[in-house]
Amino acid sequence: MGKAKKLFIKTYGCQMNVYDSERMAEAMGGQGYVTTDCAEDADMILLNTCHIREKAAEKMYSELGRMKPLKQARPGVKIGVTGCVAQAEGAEIMRRAPMVDLVVGPQSYHRLPAMEAAVQGGARALDTDFPEEDKFDHLIARPKAARAPSAFLTVQEGCDKFCAFCVVPYTRGAEVSRPAARVLDEARDLVERGVRELTLLGQNVNAYHGHPGGLAGLIRDLALIDGLARIRYTTSHPNDMDDALIAAHGDCDKLMPYLHLPVQSGSDRVLKAMNRKHTAQHYLALINRIRAARPDIMLSGDFIVGFPGETDADFQQTLDLVRAVGYGQCYSFKYSSRPGTPAAERAQVDDVVASERLQVLQALLTSQQVAIQNAMVGREVSVLFEKPGRLPGQMGGKSQYLHAVHAHAPDLAAGTVARVRIVESARNSLGGVLV
Ligand code: 5AD
Ligand code: SF4
Repeated sequence: MGKAKKLFIKTYGCQMNVYDSERMAEAMGGQGYVTTDCAEDADMILLNTCHIREKAAEKMYSELGRMKPLKQARPGVKIGVTGCVAQAEGAEIMRRAPMVDLVVGPQSYHRLPAMEAAVQGGARALDTDFPEEDKFDHLIARPKAARAPSAFLTVQEGCDKFCAFCVVPYTRGAEVSRPAARVLDEARDLVERGVRELTLLGQNVNAYHGHPGGLAGLIRDLALIDGLARIRYTTSHPNDMDDALIAAHGDCDKLMPYLHLPVQSGSDRVLKAMNRKHTAQHYLALINRIRAARPDIMLSGDFIVGFPGETDADFQQTLDLVRAVGYGQCYSFKYSSRPGTPAAERAQVDDVVASERLQVLQALLTSQQVAIQNAMVGREVSVLFEKPGRLPGQMGGKSQYLHAVHAHAPDLAAGTVARVRIVESARNSLGGVLV
């Protein structure tokens, strides 16, 4: 075999892109590539892009600009754009950036090795199809490389919900679930390679239908895998939170007490304009049912402020909803107009007003997050230790509630789950002692 070629992947955006980057790296392993953390000595550079909010394309073009000297110094370096900007702007990227050798959308990653071969022959390659075949069946896994204790596993992709602000139904396509048998095979393989915690990914993961029992059925089957200690899933839509899944939170020990359940707004007017197809009351009632099944569940969410038509009164209702729920963690964004989505055509909220609302909301969300984190002091949690901490002898990991926790544990191997009593709460993590 010749000398291994080096692959550098820069990943933007969501966890699904992180997962996709791993799978692409594995597929390129079959082409003789090993990954590198350094763009300067790479033979191939892939930018795995995100299109969810504005400036994504601009960011990508400026990143390409920064790579120009590198390409000029070593013209043999191949440069590719993958991910949702590739899907949305494919041909335009080829036209605007002659230095780009290949562009491939998220549903065609299994074709990457063949495209790489074409590119090595001097061609430029573009593929933004939504092919019939399942890319996951065609992505070759690199044999048995060891993995970190926590891993992502995509089980579902795409979305049929068409929220009025969102590009996902256009960039990732219609909702598709992977068959449970394939997911279970991949999960067993990951566990053999050292994985103890799986986070099941999907843009609408709780709409998963690749198992007769839905996502709950898949989770219960995954829970039977020896050596798998923890299961999480993200991201969910309130309307797909069915009784079986809520029940699983109550009685499936391996399913962690953490739920990311975006609501976007607390105003029924805005929710309707967003095409969310539920009300604030429906969401709050749902939270009550979930908490009845699992009282200690940690909740997380996403919010958009400044959606077209949002008034001060609407925004106050969002604050009311946040106060009513009490979130352990949240993401909040200023509305960003996305070309091709229904809301892009509507009158926009003044940017200064939207920025002010974002500040107010983030202050409230941060105060909740800090209060909930501080309240962990004195409690016992279970921690999946993942890697050495900053101090000698220290190990760091995540609690069942997804808080970062560190403890003095010089003899503990990565991948161990241990009980920890929390003794201090710092800015972004908790400190504890093994019990
Ligand atoms: N503008 C602002 N935020 C958005 N999100 C999705 N699309 C937009 C947009 N056009 C946010 C939503 C979603 C999260 C992943 O990103 O809150 O839940
Ligand atoms: Fe986008 Fe999520 Fe709405 Fe689907 S449910 S359109 S992914 S925000």
